[in-house]
Amino acid sequence: MKAVVIQEFGPPEGMEVVELPAPVPGEGQALVAVEATGVAGADVLIRSGALAAYGFKPGHIPGGEIAGTVTAVGPGADPAWVGRRVWAATGVGGGYAEQVAVPVTALHHLPGGLDAVDAVALGGAGVVAHFGLRHARFAPGESVLVRGAAGSLGIMTVQLAARQGASVVAVTTSSRERGERLRGLGATHVLDRSGGGDPDAPGTYDVIIDVVAGPGLPAFLTRLNPNGRMVVVGTVAGPPPADFGMELLTAFQRSLSFATFSAATVPEGERREVTAQQLAAASRGELAGVVHGVLPLERAVEAHRAMDAGEVFGRIVLTAAGS
Ligand SMILES: NC(=O)c1ccc[n+]([C@@H]2O[C@H](COP(=O)([O-])OP(=O)(O)OC[C@H]3O[C@@H](n4cnc5c(N)ncnc54)[C@H](OP(=O)(O)O)[C@@H]3O)[C@@H](O)[C@H]2O)c1
Repeated sequence: MKAVVIQEFGPPEGMEVVELPAPVPGEGQALVAVEATGVAGADVLIRSGALAAYGFKPGHIPGGEIAGTVTAVGPGADPAWVGRRVWAATGVGGGYAEQVAVPVTALHHLPGGLDAVDAVALGGAGVVAHFGLRHARFAPGESVLVRGAAGSLGIMTVQLAARQGASVVAVTTSSRERGERLRGLGATHVLDRSGGGDPDAPGTYDVIIDVVAGPGLPAFLTRLNPNGRMVVVGTVAGPPPADFGMELLTAFQRSLSFATFSAATVPEGERREVTAQQLAAASRGELAGVVHGVLPLERAVEAHRAMDAGEVFGRIVLTAAGS
């Protein structure tokens, strides 16, 4: 089978399409013939070498989510899965391949009418958005700012906050056109990356969901209402300054909260339940994964170049012919 491997960490050109033996499903695993695999911000961070501390080695296959059809199961796995169309999270890698072996516990039945490409555009991002808002103790009627809304996490957070009754859903983006598309998904105010650019937007918010972090983070802590909560779900601009907590201490009397959130801390059962609900909502047209473009697996380098250039709104989806 064809797979994309990172031969050298750094620029996208360090990835290469290679022929590998098809995986054999082990105990409790299913073999999925991949139709579509998502290109995520995390794949880019791994490929760039930014996450070298986590021990990724040359030969790593990127890709954290796939959709396709189960073609075989290993010992102890229910053979009824064979022939079913599924979505699955594959963890920190493995998805950029024509065939992937995953635990059957990671499989979700694809509801009728939901395309494999749309499923991976929605996939894991919806779960992070759902539980990120819950971590922020978001309640209907509150105002929300999504910082870095143009990626898949932000797109899902905007939709969920709007659906769950936010009074305001402000977003930051560097692009006017993306801002208009975010309005179409539920944003009420579009700000530039510094948080300015819309004189009608509120100055402060009850909840800030931050995908960006980086040097600009402290300035957004000052944009919280009393009892406001900021939750960092991504660090696309790198870590914040070491002394960022001083903003919280200086504003002591406003009872502000800062937290990080990773979906890895959500119990598996809860994650599964929300994923199933969101895939069903997407099949009814109530939630939308935004597909930036569709490329064959062989053009993964091109997809990563577009990610590096900041050109992507939503998700690039790679297609494979594993079946
Ligand atoms: N918490 C979890 O459980 C979880 C799970 C999966 C991934 N993640 C993390 O989430 C992040 C990826 O999420 P994503 O794919 O939604 O994000 P993304 O698409 O990589 O970035 C989101 C948006 O941030 C803006 N941006 C990029 N660089 C910026 C900068 N230097 N300053 C300000 N804005 C900037 C860009 O929009 P504009 O150009 O329009 O401003 C970009 O579209 C990674 O950090 C990944 O590790 C977290």
